[in-house]
Amino acid sequence: MSSHSANPQLNSKGELHHLLSIDGLPRGVIERILSTADSFINVAEREVKNVPLLRGKSVFNLFFENSTRTRTTFEIAARRLSADVFNLDIVRSSAAKGESLLDTINNLTAMQADAFVVRHATSGAPYLIARHTSRHAPHIHVINAGDGQHAHPTQGLLDAYTIRHYKKDFSNLTVAIVGDILHSRVARSDIHALTTLGVPEVRAVGPLTLLPTGLEQMGVRVCTKLDDGVRGADVIIMLRLQSERMRGTLLPSAAEYFANYGLTAKRLALAKPDAIVMHPGPMNRGVEIDSHVADGTASVILTQVTFGIAVRMAVLSIVSSSASMQ
Ligand code: CP
Repeated sequence: MSSHSANPQLNSKGELHHLLSIDGLPRGVIERILSTADSFINVAEREVKNVPLLRGKSVFNLFFENSTRTRTTFEIAARRLSADVFNLDIVRSSAAKGESLLDTINNLTAMQADAFVVRHATSGAPYLIARHTSRHAPHIHVINAGDGQHAHPTQGLLDAYTIRHYKKDFSNLTVAIVGDILHSRVARSDIHALTTLGVPEVRAVGPLTLLPTGLEQMGVRVCTKLDDGVRGADVIIMLRLQSERMRGTLLPSAAEYFANYGLTAKRLALAKPDAIVMHPGPMNRGVEIDSHVADGTASVILTQVTFGIAVRMAVLSIVSSSASMQ
């Protein structure tokens, strides 16, 4: 268990057994995930392949928080790998009757689960499950599908995959991440992925009330003005205001936010001529992004979603090929 204590995602052979965060993942592991995703998609045709690597395996989607893209693309990914997929209906599950998270996990483990894909409003919930299964059911894999404001590692990976597809090389890029960085697990995972992959300039752009402390220590340049943040950028990643995680009033109004931080065609023109615009979704048009930009030629927002299937297939197949935690 010593290597497990050092990095709860890796087994004693150093293999990726769980995917909990990009923070602490070696660059080689990230690059392996991206190159494995290449083998699952014809990017020119946007065609995701069927590859029966997980036949006979059971993947349980446990989404304790709402999702459109992540839950569905994990389901598609698992099915393309020929796994059996089970979506726990949390609202109708016994969690609503007070069953503890780990009792739910124990019961699903007794149903012969091989992997849990977990989204939870509480930061750290997937870690708790991984620590528990690593002790009591060490063959099981846990994949973090977004925990609180902590991490969304597969979003970070699919964003890196999308950037690599359009820009080919990370080593000469300027990437601006714009919006509610404070509450964004996507921003944290993107920052860890992009700095690990060698992007020389990652900018965090937003009002001071939505910028966490410690960004500079993560290798990020802070910009409080949108024009400064997007000027000369190769990639602009827009984030929504995570009002469900805000305590108190951090902004005067959505209209004022759009006036100062909304990405319009005029502001996009400050970026490089071939800049791409990304967004993890869900988008709030007219709040952080203008519809002309969201639907315009620079937008690769829907391509991100398709690439997410191949990246999630890569994660599922890689963790499934690792040895047990004990
Ligand atoms: N990007 C993302 O996590 O979207 P969902 O909340 O729809 O899964």
